Amino acid sequence: MDKIAVFPGSFDPFTVGHESIVKRALPLFDRVIIAVGENAEKKNLFTIEARMNMIAKVFEGDSRVVVTRYSGLTVEFCRSHGARYILRGLRTAADFEYERAMGHMNWKMAPEIDTVFLLTSTEHTPINSTIVRDIIKNGGDASMFVPAVISISDYLGK
Ligand code: PNS
Repeated sequence: MDKIAVFPGSFDPFTVGHESIVKRALPLFDRVIIAVGENAEKKNLFTIEARMNMIAKVFEGDSRVVVTRYSGLTVEFCRSHGARYILRGLRTAADFEYERAMGHMNWKMAPEIDTVFLLTSTEHTPINSTIVRDIIKNGGDASMFVPAVISISDYLGK
């Protein structure tokens, strides 16, 4: 049976930190599904299509990585795709508390699914999508925070 991990998130935008987590997870799993959450209540900078397209570009040609959108519970999405693992990156102690709560709640709802945490590499620890979004909104250069193949201006307003 294939070992499938779901990497869920808002990815608004997808950062070098996210890219690194997926690349480091690939030797551990047969397939990684990057699942872009559709949350109508969240005010996103990039549309869901733009987020999916930018991520697909990063992993173009790698059939082990699948990019898709989803709504509803992450554990239900995992079940419907035969995934037994949820993949999340951990940067700081503050991340840990949030992730611990989500991990425990997901585990209560779906004990057959384990959350696997990878510590971000040291150079990516300060990078988070909220701050990257703020830099973009204020006209700053965010190119160093997103994967090299992503040209932010191609995805804004799309
Ligand atoms: O990148 P984010 O915004 O930290 O991702 C959060 C996400 C999408 C993983 C989380 O909000 C989520 O799992 N949403 C789906 C709804 C759900 O399953 N909620 C219960 C989680 S305990």
